[in-house]
Amino acid sequence: MNTYAEFLLLGLGNGGVFAALAVALVVTYRSSGVLNFATGARYESPSPVQARYVASDVEHHGQNVPAGSIMLALTASANRDERRFPDPDRFDIHRNIGHHVAFGYGIHFCLGAALARLEGRVALDEVLQRFPSWEIDWDKAEPAHTSTVRGWEKLPVWI
Ligand code: HEM
Repeated sequence: MNTYAEFLLLGLGNGGVFAALAVALVVTYRSSGVLNFATGARYESPSPVQARYVASDVEHHGQNVPAGSIMLALTASANRDERRFPDPDRFDIHRNIGHHVAFGYGIHFCLGAALARLEGRVALDEVLQRFPSWEIDWDKAEPAHTSTVRGWEKLPVWI
């Protein structure tokens, strides 16, 4: 390993793909398994919260939510819901994920999901074929501080 590279992560859209890619790389690095984009997206959802304005009174789980409220759906938390994903904090590429909500749900489901999955798969394949072994420089890794996207601002690696 003699080259220093850096993943610079931007906002959502294509940035989300790279955020998810970097997450997948990091998670896989930690668990020393095989890379898997969907597993990474469930485990470390790049878009962890979705906000909603409540248009009419509604009840959720026995709680009344009045019209005019702001609700925040914690989709990253839903992706680790033990009722849906047994042992949810375990990163397991062999897990049958079925349905996760990393791309949202319902009428606002991510328009770019198919593209993101394709780009993620291609990027993971290419990165791993080109750089089969690598080491993260944790001292210089910087988490991204945004209100909407979870990932890494900087993820320097030795390749
Ligand atoms: C890993 C990559 C990505 C992730 C995790 C992601 C995640 C999401 C999520 C969770 C939502 C739902 C937002 C909500 O319910 O309020 C969303 C919506 C959306 N995404 Fe993505 N996204 C990704 C990549 C992309 C790409 C590549 C594009 C476009 C090329 C894109 C375009 C959109 C659009 C236009 C919406 C709004 C859909 C609507 O409101 O009807 N996304 N995305």
